[in-house]
Formats: sequence, structure tokens, C-alpha cells
Amino acid sequence: MEFLSSKPRTPGELLALFRYPRDPYTVEQARAGEIFEQTLLLIQRHVNEGLTVDTNGTAFRYNDLVSPRFLDMIANLSGCTAHRRFNNCSDICFHQKYRSHDGTCNNLQHPMWGASLTAFERLLKSVYDNGFNLPRGANEQYHNGAPLPLPRLVSTTMIGTETITPDDRYTHMLMQWGQFLDHDLDATVAALSQSRFSDGQLCSAVCTNDPPCFPVMFPPGDPRQARSGGARCMFFVRSSPVCGSGMTSLLMNSVYPREQINQLTSFIDASNVYGSSDHESEEIRDLASQRGLLRQGIVQRSGKPLLPFATGPPTECMRDENESPIPCFLAGDHRANEQLGLTAMHTLWFREHNRIATELLRLNPHWDGDTIYHEARKIVGAQMQHITYSHWLPKILGEAGIKLMDEYRGYDPNVNAGIFNAFATAAFRFGHTLINPILYRLDENFQPIPQGHISLHKAFFSPFRIVNEGGIDPLLRGLFAVAGKMRVSSQLLNTELTERLFSMAHAVALDLAAMNIQRGRDHGVPSYNDYRVFCNLSSAHTFEDLRNEIRDPHVREKLQRLYGTPLNIDLFPALMAEDLVPGSRLGPTLMCLLTTQFKRLRDGDRFWYENPGVFSPAQLTQLKQTSLARVLCDNGDNINRVQPDVFRVAEFPHGYASCDDIPKMDLRMWQDCCEDCRTKGQFNALSFHFRGRRSADHSYAEENPTNGAKKREGRSIVEDPRGRPTNVTLTSKPSTEPSLNDFQDFVVDMQKTITSLRKQIKRLEARLSRTDCTDEEGRERSSNERWKKNACTTCECQNAQVTCFVEACPPAECPRPVKLKGSCCPVCLTQPTSADHGA
Ligand code: HEM
Repeated sequence: MEFLSSKPRTPGELLALFRYPRDPYTVEQARAGEIFEQTLLLIQRHVNEGLTVDTNGTAFRYNDLVSPRFLDMIANLSGCTAHRRFNNCSDICFHQKYRSHDGTCNNLQHPMWGASLTAFERLLKSVYDNGFNLPRGANEQYHNGAPLPLPRLVSTTMIGTETITPDDRYTHMLMQWGQFLDHDLDATVAALSQSRFSDGQLCSAVCTNDPPCFPVMFPPGDPRQARSGGARCMFFVRSSPVCGSGMTSLLMNSVYPREQINQLTSFIDASNVYGSSDHESEEIRDLASQRGLLRQGIVQRSGKPLLPFATGPPTECMRDENESPIPCFLAGDHRANEQLGLTAMHTLWFREHNRIATELLRLNPHWDGDTIYHEARKIVGAQMQHITYSHWLPKILGEAGIKLMDEYRGYDPNVNAGIFNAFATAAFRFGHTLINPILYRLDENFQPIPQGHISLHKAFFSPFRIVNEGGIDPLLRGLFAVAGKMRVSSQLLNTELTERLFSMAHAVALDLAAMNIQRGRDHGVPSYNDYRVFCNLSSAHTFEDLRNEIRDPHVREKLQRLYGTPLNIDLFPALMAEDLVPGSRLGPTLMCLLTTQFKRLRDGDRFWYENPGVFSPAQLTQLKQTSLARVLCDNGDNINRVQPDVFRVAEFPHGYASCDDIPKMDLRMWQDCCEDCRTKGQFNALSFHFRGRRSADHSYAEENPTNGAKKREGRSIVEDPRGRPTNVTLTSKPSTEPSLNDFQDFVVDMQKTITSLRKQIKRLEARLSRTDCTDEEGRERSSNERWKKNACTTCECQNAQVTCFVEACPPAECPRPVKLKGSCCPVCLTQPTSADHGA
């Protein structure tokens, strides 16, 4: 992966950065599948050179060529057999209360349901040209009597649009929540290798279908081809296969079609904030402070921190020498830097965690760092569920869709909440049709900021714009104060996405629409018609049969020209071309697919926020006060006016409210009050005795052995000090009075409790009185010490907290500013310097 250790140079490398897994376990797992597959391909090639066995057919068996012992050895060496995770969920005290980071043990009977790094689910059987791994369209084969069109041709014919229609109801935040939510649900593991297995040539340099390369070919006459110096294709690499599926399944003497891996937990659990594995979560947490916080990065003038910077490859978000030296931000999902709106959302939610954690510690000073972290994490996950299901989904699904979802009736352990392949690969990508080509950036008065609005293609992987161009507020205001894009069947994806995705000088930019279609074929997603049948719509035999769902005859005519038969239409373009069900933002088939997934995500989640017992009724009432408007008010740099429903278009200023009037969640419902304390942690010893005393009179006989003994003629059997049973006569004292033994036990327990409390107080004192800091390189820094982290960043240690300030560079006043060594901001060299003479 050498290419990721240097600055990305091409759109393909940026895409790799976007899709490349950061977690080492994920890398290892994906690598195993690939090594194994590559080995088998090599065997196949050698065999083909010397033998006359048809290795392309499914009838052929590797076991006939290589002895089972050697195949086993290859499987072990590649690591393909080492990745079966077994979870026994035995730490039930933890699993009763909190989610695991990787989603295991949510369903106690099926601990891997919804867990990260498991195969996507399937609603319908996969469709590959050879039955198990070859994508449709990978060769010139006909399907149902017609060839499949090139995905890029579908994109230019019926998807890309220069014109857009603003949504008269909903803001651009509707899009942004969709993407942020998606990054809590799924991320397909991409092939780790970006080079042909056969000869190591980079996929970006060759245009052949050699694993793992699966390039998006330009159709003849595509104007982009001329603009890209005659390139024949766009970069595309297949998704990583699950070990033992596709090619590698042939080993096991079976044909098991290729499956893809979801890197994330499927549950709505804020894994985009906390990561989808223990390892990722530890990278993000501030474990040193013991306050349950997430790590923070530099603090801007507003006084609020940004996300920490990512270290180690792939980190480089700097695409241009003249841009400021700001690396990528680190968040729970590795795609956080993909575009500025998304980065702003990640910043908002990491601050929300820290806000809640700080408040919980204030309310419960006796809680340790882990308790604060998990309680805050549980609240943040619940907030996201509430915003999604109470505020966002009703606008996407409309009344019709909400009806299909039915009411929540409690957790159903028979429901698998895993994400299905067609959801991640086609259906939920509907959000791509809601994206504006411009990101608006507005100041406190909702006027453009001095640096202006920004074309989307300039917002990809550009965290420096958050640091240098006014923080996250201008972007957030641009999301909630500006109308989103309406999906119109003749205006699907704006050309920033189809012609300029991840664009850079001198390299072929990507096309998101073509990639979505190509990805569908890579994953063996069946055609649109099969999903129509799954969703109880008619099977279309002619293009005319689509008229109820795709009313525009021009769109149907384009589909006919492209596909020839309705049986071949790829799922993504057809879902996008369907007319909207009134009151929703979806067509009928898409509606069916999204409601199926979102119902499962709700009903199959044991930690669903409304599942009785997950929160107390009082807490639930408070959670339901959550709104994205409130989160913006609390965690923006300085947002003080919003519309109460930030997804809805509002007139400025009268449609807006002061943040003071936006309802708040009252976290006091999470305070351990004295009554509750008895059942919690260190108070157990105390409460046992008190509860015993108080309830004795009200207990049933079998629960109350002393009462039972009294009834049996006042005699009871107890053990003597050496453990032998002896008969003793009870005194006439009522048995509810504590006996001497009871009292001694009580004193011992009290002593233990006091010792434990003392220890906790000491820890707390140490935590509070600590004034020194540890910098990011692990060096001790004394209180008030200041140091330079790099040319632009100065840090200081105050009250055990490191705060860093970044110098903001003023906009350069010349076209070619130059960065001098050791200085932060690029400068304009009006006169030639001695350095120039020397060069
Ligand atoms: C400016 C905004 C966005 C950009 C630039 C963007 C870009 C991308 C890219 C490059 C991919 C990977 C394509 C591939 O290689 O297969 C992707 C995947 C995806 N996008 Fe977007 N996207 C955006 C917004 C959205 C929105 C608003 C939604 C949904 C509401 C969404 C849903 C998805 C889904 C479900 C995937 C598949 C993720 C997976 O691997 O499981 N995206 N997007």
C-alpha cells in the first residue's frame, strides 16, 4: 500500500483513501481473502499452461489439482481460516447494559447479527455471470437477448445533470443527515490491492478486467475521454470478498457465491462517532483523563475544539502544495473527510459526546471514566435513533412509508438487523440525488462568508478549509438555511459528482453514478425487475409496463435504448428514475427496500432506545426532546439561531428561533439519586443490609428464612464457627432485629465500602489536582508551558488540558503564494529572493 504513504495524486487514490479500511483487523481480514484468491488464480494459470482442464467452469474442483492437505495449508497461510470470530457473550453484566463496539452480542442467540466485519445480508440471491463471482457485464455476454450497457453510458444518458431544481420543502441538511447516517450503517471493505494480481500493474494504469481491477470503461464518443487525454477508462477496484465465498469457496468443494463485507456495525449506534471495533474506539477515546471523553484536537478562536488529526497513513488530505498543511481529521468512520459538510457533522457529534460526558461527570462525580463514556455513548446513539426515526425518516418515507414501517412493538430477537447488500450498493445511495453542486457557507447574519460558497469538487478531502476558513458554522448554516436538491427523474446526480468527483489536475476524475452501477454488478445485485417482484409490483415484460412507476416517456425511452429489455435494468438507475410516492422522497420500489431495512434496524436492535428497560421512562421522555437543532445550538462554534426543524426550509429571519427557545434534554434524569444509589456499584454493600431490614416484614416466607424459622417453633439450624450444623434457640426478640452476626457482617461491609470510597476519592482528587499534561508525542509538559507543534500550531498546557491554536492564514493576495520553510502561511514574493536565484 505504498501509494497511501505519500500524498494522494489521483482521484483513484482519493477513492481508495475514502474506501480503504483503517482498522488493522479489517485490513488483515480483507488481505487474507485476497491472498487466497490470488493463490488460486495462480494455480489456475499454471494449470492452464500445462493441463487441459477447463478451469473456467464451475464443474472443476481445486481438490482435483492440489491435494486437500496443500489447499488447507494455503488457506491457513493466507489467514483465510483464522478469521472466524467466536463470541460467547459471557460478560453478561456488560452486555445487559451496553453495546459492544463491534456490534457482537446485541442479539444474544445470534451474537454476530449486525456485527462489524460480517457479510452483508441478501434479500435476493446474488447474480453473477458464472454463477459465483464474475460480475454481470464483465465480458460481452448477452443477457436476456441483449448486451448490458456500459455504466458510464447510463450515467451520461440519463443521470448526470447541470441543472437542478431546489426542494421547496426540505433543506440540504436532509441530504447531509442521510450521508452521516449511512456512515453509521455500512462501509464496504474495498480490495486492499489496487494493482492487478497477475502482474502488479496499477488498476489506474490499465483498463482490463483483471482482479481486483474492474475499470469503468468510457463509451465511444464520451467527451470526457478527449478531456482526459484519451484515457479509456476510470479507476475502479472490486470490493473485497468474504473468505470462503466466490473464488475461494471452490476450495471447500462447494460453490458459494461471492459475498462482500460490511466494515461497520449495522445498528444505529453512533459507530460513526465511536468506531466499529474496540481498537478503533481506543484510538478515538481520551483514555488518559478518566473523564469518559473523546480525544479533541486543536481549539479554534471560538473556544471549541476540532476533531483530532489522524496520524499514520492514510492521513494526507492535502492535495495541493499551496494549500495549508492540515492533515485529515480522525473520527469514528474513516470517511469523515470526504466532503466538508460531512466533516462538520462529525465535529458536531464528537463535541456532543464530550458535552454530555462532562455533564454526567458533574452530576455523578463518583462514576469512573468507563461508566461516563458508556452512558454518554448510549445517550448519543439514542439521540441519533430519535432524530432519524422521528424527524428524518418521516420526510423521506412520507405517510405511506411510515405506515409500512408499522408501530414499534418492542425488540424482536428473530429479526436480523444486518444491512442487506442491495441497500448499501443501490437503494440507500438514493441520497446521491439530493446533493447540491455547491456547499453554501453563511455567517452569523446568514450572508456569504468572505471566502464565498464553494463548489462541491473543492470540498472533497479539504479539512484545511474548516481550520482556515471560519470553522464549522458557515458550512452548517449553509446546510440548514439553504434548500436541498429535489430529485426529478430527469435531474438525478449533479455533474460535480458525475464529472468532477475527487478531481485533480491531470488525472481522470470519477463518476459516482457510473460507480454505483458498476458496484451493483461487482456485488452481484440482481436487476430492478427482480426487486419489483420482491416488492409485490408487477414483473415488467415491456418498457411500457413501467409506466406506473416511471411516468416520463422520455426516461422510459432512454432506458429502452440503453438496456433493450426491462429484465436487464440495473437496480440503481431504475430506483432513481421512479416517480416519487406523494408526500415522500422515494419511488415505490425504493420505498419498499428502505422500509424493509429501517424496520429491521429498529425491531432487531436489543438496545433500541424505546425498547422498555433500555432507558427509564423519565430518561426516555428527555431523550425525545432531542433535535438536530438543539445539537447544532449546543455544539456549533457559535450558532444561536436555527429553525426548530432544521430539515425544513424556513424563511429568514421569522422562521428562525433563538437557541434559547429550542427544547433541551435534561440530563439530571441520569443522576444517581440516593434511593438509586443503593443498587449501584459501591453502594451495594450498604443497600443489601438496608433492603434486608426494611423488607423483612413484607416478605413472603420462602424469601424470608428468619420468619419461616420463627414459625417453626423458634428453632433454627445454623452453622457453628467450625462449620458444623448446631441447633440454637432463638431469643424472644423479633427476628426483624439485626442479630450480632448480622451486625458484624454489616460492619465488615461498611469498612469495605469506606475503603472503596476512599480509593475513589483519592483517584478523583488526583484527577482534579493534576495540572501537568502529556503532549501528543507522549512528552510531559508542565502547567502553563507553551510549545510549537508545527509552523502553524502553538499548544499550551492548562489545568491538565492541552489546548492548541492554529494560526489562520489570510487569503493570499497574489495568484502564486509560496510557502517558506518554517513559516506557516504562504506569502507573496513580489521581488525575486536569493532562493529564486539559487534555484
Ligand atoms: C457529497 C456527498 C456525497 C459524496 C461525495 C458521496 C460519495 C460516495 C462515494 C465515492 C462512494 C463509494 C462508491 C463506490 O466506490 O462504490 C459512496 C458510497 C455510498 N454512499 Fe455516498 N456520497 C455522498 C452522499 C451520500 C448520501 C447523502 C447518501 C445517503 C443518503 C449516501 C449513501 C451512500 C452509500 C449507502 C454508499 C455505500 C457505502 C458502502 O460502502 O457501504 N452518500 N458515496
